[in-house]
Amino acid sequence: MIQVKISSSIKNYQIVIKEGIKNTAGSLISSIWSPRKVGIVSDENVATLYLDDLSKQLNALGFEIKPLVVSAGENSKSLTQVADLIKQMAQVGFTRDDGLIALGGGMIGDLTGLTANLYMRGIAYLQIPTSLTAQVDSSVGGKTAVNLAGIKNILGTFYQPDLVIVDPIYLRTLSNRDLVEGYGEVVKTSALAGVDFFDLTGRIQNVAAIRQNALTLIEKAITYKAQIIMADEKEAGNRKFLNFGHTFGHPIEALNHGQMRHGEAVSIGMVTLTRIFEKAKISPAGLTQELIRRLKTVGLPISSNLIGSPEFISLLKNDKKNRHGILNLVVLKAVGNPIIVLEPLNQVEDLLKGVVHELHYCR
Ligand SMILES: NC(=O)c1ccc[n+]([C@@H]2O[C@H](COP(=O)([O-])OP(=O)(O)OC[C@H]3O[C@@H](n4cnc5c(N)ncnc54)[C@H](O)[C@@H]3O)[C@@H](O)[C@H]2O)c1
Repeated sequence: MIQVKISSSIKNYQIVIKEGIKNTAGSLISSIWSPRKVGIVSDENVATLYLDDLSKQLNALGFEIKPLVVSAGENSKSLTQVADLIKQMAQVGFTRDDGLIALGGGMIGDLTGLTANLYMRGIAYLQIPTSLTAQVDSSVGGKTAVNLAGIKNILGTFYQPDLVIVDPIYLRTLSNRDLVEGYGEVVKTSALAGVDFFDLTGRIQNVAAIRQNALTLIEKAITYKAQIIMADEKEAGNRKFLNFGHTFGHPIEALNHGQMRHGEAVSIGMVTLTRIFEKAKISPAGLTQELIRRLKTVGLPISSNLIGSPEFISLLKNDKKNRHGILNLVVLKAVGNPIIVLEPLNQVEDLLKGVVHELHYCR
């Protein structure tokens, strides 16, 4: 079993990673929680596959289980859904001593974390992430959020779980598209982390290889993110590096109105940005091709006609990282050596014009 220890200003907890650990998740949970009421929050897809087994394990250990199943999809990440969960918990008498488990992908993790944080000013929760995105990214770091008025993650908090249980076996039932989307974030992390990890993603040639190497990929991605978030809990400094590819990715994701996944948009964002800074001789020669090789081989998109369009530029202007017309861009000086480059938005527009056509031909 791999254990990654997280120390935050509020609490210390562990992320445990092991193939097959889901079969003994109940006893792991009972080693940190006394028997209590536990709400298992899950979406309808994941609940059908895994909720019964977890409930049985916890029931046998004296926990009283309340299944809290929501519709699958981003629409459930809403304040209305938080209120509905809270109502259901109050109806069956949840107290401050009870707890929630997030059993599902990143949507469930974000929704459960926020609900746990708000119920009676905060009850315990833990995460059992079941998608690759959730295992390598959203379950690590304590960010919770829901969407409001069409704005993603606008309403959220930092709230740390008591434990995160990661089992790559869950990925066996995850669709290839969902898996590959999560892998976009793994490639991102490998480029930020350093040559060892980047070499590993360089050896992944197809989707089957992601599945075969899932345990190692997850362990390396979590270890890197854990180290970053422990040094910068609330994104005041180096945690910003995790936004590599996101500044250009977010507008692409938004302009595709739900037709493009987050990891797919980040893939386009990383390639576009790196090409710009390779041309400017800040990123090393050949890095864009190295990224393209890793992303394209598993079917991730690497360019979009929307890059540089007036709609794209207008969304860039509203980016959270855009302060007074200056964009904070995460750029790789080398693999494993990210830096923040401050670039005026009008200059970014010109730089984008210089690479759009080249990338179009790489598609
Ligand atoms: N908090 C953070 O730091 C953070 C970081 C990254 C992403 N996120 C959030 O995470 C969400 C995206 O995560 P996601 O891609 O996991 O989305 P998701 O939770 O919607 O899951 C995607 C799909 O996979 C299905 N699924 C999940 N696990 C499965 C399994 N084992 N078998 C079969 N189907 C399974 C779900 O039912 C869903 O249909 C977004 O809301 C995003 O904002 C949060």
